[in-house]
Amino acid sequence: MMKRVEGARIYLRELAESDLDRTWEWLHRPDINDKIGVETPFTKQQQKEWFANLQEDGAKVVFAVCLRSDDTHVGNVSLDMIDRRHRNARFSIFIADESMRGLGLGSESIRLLEEYAFSTLGLHKIWCKTDAGSPEVTRFYEKLGFSQEGVLCQHELKGARYVDKILFGKLEPNR
Ligand SMILES: CC(C)(COP(=O)(O)OP(=O)(O)OC[C@H]1O[C@@H](n2cnc3c(N)ncnc32)[C@H](O)[C@@H]1OP(=O)(O)O)[C@@H](O)C(=O)NCCC(=O)NCCS
Repeated sequence: MMKRVEGARIYLRELAESDLDRTWEWLHRPDINDKIGVETPFTKQQQKEWFANLQEDGAKVVFAVCLRSDDTHVGNVSLDMIDRRHRNARFSIFIADESMRGLGLGSESIRLLEEYAFSTLGLHKIWCKTDAGSPEVTRFYEKLGFSQEGVLCQHELKGARYVDKILFGKLEPNR
């Protein structure tokens, strides 16, 4: 059955094959792939294989973020590295078009993703890594109640430069 989470202005629905071309374009935009750390370029064929694996892989779920008003697909949120033993998962998010950013859609997407992670999957914690020196992203997670758990020094390569990453985490409520 297709996974779905209902919100006030948006809903999350499991990514479908018909979303792949749009997602390919988005992930090849430097302002998006640079932030979420997806390695590009990849071919449409590779994406097809990735999607086929996704259907079998219990450790990953990708949702399309869609407007309730007209079903427009505006971005994606995902959980991966879903660890059933330790009950945690990594998440990622983007709202594709700049004109759709700053409207609260990203915040609502994360709240719905949390509902799915904590209530449906019964996880204890979700986490992500983000670039140090991205104050708007830091502000975004802090406003949503994520805690800065640590800094991973020179953890990733960006071009020829090593960059620090900040770990953000949030625990399931009432624990
Ligand atoms: C980060 C992102 C998901 C936020 O989604 P959004 O819908 O734009 O965010 P919201 O409208 O819910 O904003 C919530 C808060 O985040 C902060 N914020 C978000 N975008 C910001 C920006 N461009 N500049 C400054 N602060 C920003 C603000 O504090 C904002 O609260 P405010 O509106 O009360 O000031 C979106 O900007 C995006 O997709 N960016 C590119 C991909 C990315 O960076 N993903 C995260 C990688 S770790």
